[in-house]
Amino acid sequence: MNNIILNTALLLIALTVPACATKINDEVATAKYLEESRNTALEFRKKLGDVQKAQLESVGAENAIPVCKVIAPAMAAEYSKNGQMLKRVSLKARNKTQGTPDTWEKEVLESFDKAQLAGKPVDVMEASTVSKDADGRWFRYMKAIPTQPQCLQCHGKPNEISAAMKALLAREYPEDMATDYSVGEVRGAISIRRKVD
Ligand code: HEC
Repeated sequence: MNNIILNTALLLIALTVPACATKINDEVATAKYLEESRNTALEFRKKLGDVQKAQLESVGAENAIPVCKVIAPAMAAEYSKNGQMLKRVSLKARNKTQGTPDTWEKEVLESFDKAQLAGKPVDVMEASTVSKDADGRWFRYMKAIPTQPQCLQCHGKPNEISAAMKALLAREYPEDMATDYSVGEVRGAISIRRKVD
């Protein structure tokens, strides 16, 4: 009788321990990486915004395309080291190859859009999770990118984008979906992932 109780107890412990261990690890990973990822995303968003502003003021929108096309991905690459990867994604991507979200990113972007409709400030929106794929476990983080006035000449309504810019975008991005935005809307998000050891 006692043996049965003991065996049952041992079985229960054996069943619950791995589940607890995974959960604790997820929590530990989140505690370890959340703050760091948030800071990285904020720094990236600010740095890119500053470069963009300076470029728009000095050379004008048509010549500022390289900021979003060349400098942003280069900056993203700069932040993609020491096991960390950073990119920008959007539900309406301009660069289909680099900007299309995966399943989790899409869900988060949709939740950001919903929160925006409910009146939540885009600036503070973020999400994180720990997930698993064939390559192992990942800590993932996303921070929303709000549309600002200086974005409109390239991402705004048709009447806010010059004919020259439209022609340029049509040539460079024939599948462009990233227009029709208004100030304050979620333009996309910074998405960071890092391996959980
Ligand atoms: C001078 C034109 C221009 C301005 C101004 C501009 N963008 Fe872009 N944006 C682009 C181009 C071009 C791309 C595609 C970049 C690429 O090829 O990766 C892009 C891509 C993006 C992406 C990546 C996702 C996607 O759609 O492919 C985000 C996010 C983004 N822009 C946000 C912004 C925000 C926010 C602002 C204002 C703070 C802004 N952009 C201002 C031209 C611009």
